[in-house]
Amino acid sequence: MLRFETAGESHGECLIATLTGLPAGVPVTAAAIDRELRRRQQGYGRGGRMKIETDRAEIVAGVRHSRTIGSPIALVIRNRDWANWTETLPVEDFEGSEEKKKPVLRPRPGHADLAGVLKYGFPDARYILERASARETTARVAAGAVAKAFLEQFGVRVLSHAVAIGAARLERRASWEEVAALNEREEILLGCVDSATERKMKDEVDEAYRTGDTLGGVFEVMAHNVPPGLGSHIAWDQRLDGRLAQAVVSIQAVKGIEIGDAIEAAASFGSRVQDTIHYDAEPRRFRRGSNHAGGIEGGMSNGEDIVLRGLLKPISTLRRPLESVDLATREPALAAYERSDVCVVRAAGVIGEAMAALVLAQAFLEKFGGDSLGETRRNFDGFIEQVRSF
Ligand SMILES: Cc1cc2nc3c(=O)[nH]c(=O)nc-3n(C[C@H](O)[C@H](O)[C@H](O)COP(=O)(O)O)c2cc1C
Repeated sequence: MLRFETAGESHGECLIATLTGLPAGVPVTAAAIDRELRRRQQGYGRGGRMKIETDRAEIVAGVRHSRTIGSPIALVIRNRDWANWTETLPVEDFEGSEEKKKPVLRPRPGHADLAGVLKYGFPDARYILERASARETTARVAAGAVAKAFLEQFGVRVLSHAVAIGAARLERRASWEEVAALNEREEILLGCVDSATERKMKDEVDEAYRTGDTLGGVFEVMAHNVPPGLGSHIAWDQRLDGRLAQAVVSIQAVKGIEIGDAIEAAASFGSRVQDTIHYDAEPRRFRRGSNHAGGIEGGMSNGEDIVLRGLLKPISTLRRPLESVDLATREPALAAYERSDVCVVRAAGVIGEAMAALVLAQAFLEKFGGDSLGETRRNFDGFIEQVRSF
């Protein structure tokens, strides 16, 4: 069973990810993880922090001579900003620490601040936002990069692009080839495959900058070359769609998920949105007339590309703050402002890729097992042959 965990606070020493259950022999390098971390930092609309931090992963366990050895993998990403926070968030208390604290007393509507202080009983929201912050997703992306390295051994690739930012929207489907070409680029503006739409997206973000506001949007994650049979119809918690939904909606500020063309399908006749089934005798292969289902039927991958969309609410820290209440005085006050992103659709897409890759790698290992990559490959090849000769 593949499982992963993260630890770390936004302004603490570092972020940590552990990943347990990957077979031995998977090629993994820090450079490949760093590339994903760099992708997470991309996108017009990010706050000042992305300029301070160039994230780098250190692999401290589970990988030797550039390959996994079957033991838990541990990854560390240092927070460069920690140097400025050593006295604000010390591990051990010291005399005079009270004056060094940076309390957050005016909870931001939409953030974890108020619910968090009520739940944990802290006098201010500092400790809550330190962990609620999407800085945590740095560790998810690092773990996801390792999951991607595993999936790539079987030809499976997971990428994303921006579908909508504010009111600017790509009004057509993007092909896998377009999404793959977009993600080859070193420089990314907002991550849309269509440059005219991307310009409109940038106008939306500029408007938010001008007015001290923020924006959400929609990103799409595609998984290409996924074999049929991952996940299962037999139990609610084995269904691949449900598992992907939890993984993607767990990303900070993601409030919804669409699998395939779910929204359009809900307003359509069945005859228009079910994917017709065909058979090509020569490659002896089933083929679908379309992929409205987004590659999943009955909670199982069906061999088509898996396509899902994450719906991101606007960032809740506004330069033009909303009404709130001071936690100390209970008087009306404007919400706190700390350096913040304005729009993170591109980054959320990259995080969505990581979460999808982790779920797919988990389902893949449930189906094919293996303590070594060779063993997994044997099981995988055997199943692919079984499907071919069905
Ligand atoms: C990549 C990324 C970056 C984010 N950056 C910020 C930010 O700078 N400021 C902020 O208030 N929220 C930011 N968020 C959103 C908050 O983390 C999120 O709204 C908060 O934790 C509350 O969780 P919820 O929105 O899921 O309910 C970011 C989210 C993502 C995915």
